[in-house]
Amino acid sequence: MKVKIKRYSDGDFRWEEYEVDGEGKTVLEILQNIKEIDPTLSFRAMCRAGICGTCVVKVNGEHKLACNTRVYDDITLEPVDVAPPIKDLVVEHEFIYEKLKKGRVWFEPLPTNIPLKPDELKNTEKSWDCILCGICNYVCPAIQADKNFGLPSTFTKAYGVVFDKRNKKGLDKLKDLVPLNIQSCTHCKNCTFSCPKDCNPELLIKILENNMVQRGLIQRKEQDFGFLGF
Ligand code: SF4
Ligand code: SF4
Ligand code: FES
Repeated sequence: MKVKIKRYSDGDFRWEEYEVDGEGKTVLEILQNIKEIDPTLSFRAMCRAGICGTCVVKVNGEHKLACNTRVYDDITLEPVDVAPPIKDLVVEHEFIYEKLKKGRVWFEPLPTNIPLKPDELKNTEKSWDCILCGICNYVCPAIQADKNFGLPSTFTKAYGVVFDKRNKKGLDKLKDLVPLNIQSCTHCKNCTFSCPKDCNPELLIKILENNMVQRGLIQRKEQDFGFLGF
């Protein structure tokens, strides 16, 4: 099968084509095979098991985890959208972690542990399932429209902190999210449809946003659907 790869180096993109025996393999296995014949190709991967979130590339135009995407025909591979390229399929991820820091999205536990009931664990499990792969960010239009928007991955992680009763700030933790302009989310659900872990970021954002509006921390933004032309 043919594998076309959009490569990047020294400020320029170029396409390169490889012929590989890749039918039924994962994209990551194919990249590793290509690396054996062309050691100059750069890409990221660690766990090879859909856990670390580092291997995202565009496969035939869609953002996917390379390690759990099997292919059976010719493919094109590209670096992800939005994130600045570094080399070939490797991009700069730092902006994802910067937003987590800006929203202080980390767990500050109570001095003594409280056991959680199964339904309480269930409520936050989608948030803890997030592997910070960034796919939701790469498909999010709000990021393009508002550079201060906190990113769907940030809010997905924040949900698990805010609604876990072992978090010592309780719902006051919502105040930390105010600088992240959650109200810039258009609720298009691109993030939800593309998340490889079914975390449903849009739903978690909606719940966080509703709670922030109810507490007077933010005002809901009127969405601009001007293209409907009423
Ligand atoms: S919410 Fe889903 S798509 Fe977004 S970073 Fe987490 S696992 Fe990836
Ligand atoms: S639902 Fe919100 S966070 Fe998700 S992709 Fe759309 S604008 Fe971005
Ligand atoms: S290599 Fe870890 S998620 Fe793909």
